[in-house]
Amino acid sequence: MIQRPALIAPSILSGDFARLADESRELKKQGADWLHVDVMDGHFVPNMTLGPCVVSSLRKATDLFLDCHLMISDPGFYAPKFAEAGADMVTFHIEAIDDPAPLIKELKEKGTKVGIAVKPGTDLKKTLEYASDLDLILVMTVEPGFGGQSFMADMMDKVREARTKTGDHVHVQVDGGLNPETTVTAANAGANVIVAGSAIFKAPDRAATIASLRQAVELAAL
Ligand code: DX5
Ligand code: ZN
Repeated sequence: MIQRPALIAPSILSGDFARLADESRELKKQGADWLHVDVMDGHFVPNMTLGPCVVSSLRKATDLFLDCHLMISDPGFYAPKFAEAGADMVTFHIEAIDDPAPLIKELKEKGTKVGIAVKPGTDLKKTLEYASDLDLILVMTVEPGFGGQSFMADMMDKVREARTKTGDHVHVQVDGGLNPETTVTAANAGANVIVAGSAIFKAPDRAATIASLRQAVELAAL
């Protein structure tokens, strides 16, 4: 069995937006592998967060891998702007685009890694058609829009399908309701990239929580 890297991606949605640079520097010291940046447009989801100019500022503030999750209705227009702003990974939702192929190509030409996300009610059929060109599949384990929701364990069949039907180069990411316990469930199903907002930001010891999330993935991969 291939040992995929356990990657912990704190979601800055749960952080203090007035001190994103400090948050990103602290998270790096606390052991974060990636910084998960939730982008919401108030249309694809009923919440709003930030745009490419904030990613551009974050890019100057940290060398952490910037993992941008676009919960927006028009990724065809906006996703390249996040790549230009310095995102390392741009993940857009399959529900928001008819034909992802041209966008995947455009993002890759800009040197960005590319992921596709699926909401809880969406199956993987269409996403898997593009899997050979993807770096990541994001299986949402809550309805996108807000942090602090409960993990949907019934998404684990989809995680297993993403893991077993894609090549070794594809990361399987889960996002929503992840804590050290639910991470065991997700990692056993095949997830290796763990997004966590509340569990890390509300923890008295963030470094210890990040370490325990990583350990849960590493133990599952043995
Ligand atoms: C939900 C976001 C998540 C969210 C995770 O739309 O994509 O990244 O911030 O937060 P928790 O870990 O609190 O569920
Ligand atoms: Zn997210």
